[in-house]
Amino acid sequence: MAINGVASLIYGVPNLDAATKFYQDFGLELDRRDDAGSDFSTPDGSTVLLRHIADPSLPENVLERPGVRETVWGVDTKENLDALERRLAAAGTVSRDDAGTLHTADPLGIPLGFRVFERNLVPGEHVPTNTVDEIQRWNANRKWYKRARPRLIHHVGYTVPKARIDDVEAFYVEVLDFRVTDISRGLATFLLADGRQDHHSIFIMDSARVQAEGITWNHVAFGVENVDELMAGANELQRQGWSSFLGLGRHRISSAINYYANNPGGGDSEYLTDIDYVTDEWKPRVWDPRFGMMMWSAEVPDFMKHEPEWDWEILDRDPLPRFSEI
Ligand SMILES: [Fe+2]
Repeated sequence: MAINGVASLIYGVPNLDAATKFYQDFGLELDRRDDAGSDFSTPDGSTVLLRHIADPSLPENVLERPGVRETVWGVDTKENLDALERRLAAAGTVSRDDAGTLHTADPLGIPLGFRVFERNLVPGEHVPTNTVDEIQRWNANRKWYKRARPRLIHHVGYTVPKARIDDVEAFYVEVLDFRVTDISRGLATFLLADGRQDHHSIFIMDSARVQAEGITWNHVAFGVENVDELMAGANELQRQGWSSFLGLGRHRISSAINYYANNPGGGDSEYLTDIDYVTDEWKPRVWDPRFGMMMWSAEVPDFMKHEPEWDWEILDRDPLPRFSEI
C-alpha cells in the first residue's frame, strides 16, 4: 500500500471571505468561488476546499476550534485503495462515496478520506547557491521571486489530548503503514506515509501545548522551492496584514525552514523548504522539545531564552516503544 501524501483538505471556516483572501494572498490558485465556498489547488493537483463552518455537507465536527474538517490522503493505485478499504473495514467503519473516495475516522473520531491520487509534481528549477568557497553561480543573478506559489501540500498537524497520542499513533502505524520518524519527548510524534520520504506527513501534538483540552486542527505545511520563495510569500502576507507565529525559523527536528502564518480559517498555514529526506535506514530520534523545535528563529520564543536540559538521542529499539513510554 502506498499513501502518497495529502490530496485534499476540507476546511469549515467561520468567515469564507477572510479565509479565501488569506489563501489567495498565500499564493494558492483559486479555481472556483461561489456561495458554497472556495476551491483552491496547488500545481501537483492537491486541493484546498473552504466551506462555511455550518455547511451540512461537512463531516460531524470533533474539533474544539475551527479548521480542517477532513484530511483526504492520496493512494497511488485503485488496487491499493481497495486493499485499504478492506483493512479499514476490519479496523472500524468505512464508506465509499460516488466519486470513489473512502471516508472513515481515526480512533478519536477525526474524519479522514482516501482517494486515488496521482501527484503531478512538476520538476522545479535548480537554483545555484554561492558560499564563501563553493561557487555555483558566475556572471548571473540569483533567481527572483515576486510571490510564493506553493507546489504541494507537505504535511498536516493536529493536537489531541496527551493520553490519546498512543492511540492515534498506533492507528497510523498499524492500519495505514505510516512510520514514526521522530518523537519530541512528551509533546509530539512525527509520522511519515509509506509513499513518502520527506521526514513527516502528519504531526500529532499534545493539546495542552496550545491551551486546548480536546482535539484541534493545528496546521498545514505547503512546500516551496527555497528560502527566497518562502520569504517572498512571507513578505506578501505581511503586506496584506496577516500575522505570523515565530517568524522565519529552522527546526532542528527535520531541518525544515519554516514560516507559519495565522490563518483566519483555523490554525496556521506554513511555508516549508529544505526538509530532511529519509530512507528505510533512518532510525527515529527522541528529542528534548525545547532543543528539537528550533535551531534558530527570527522571533525568539520564551522557551529558547533558556538552555534546554537535554538534547537528543537515536532511538534504536525494535519494536519502537509507544509515545507515552519514551
Ligand atoms: Fe509543520
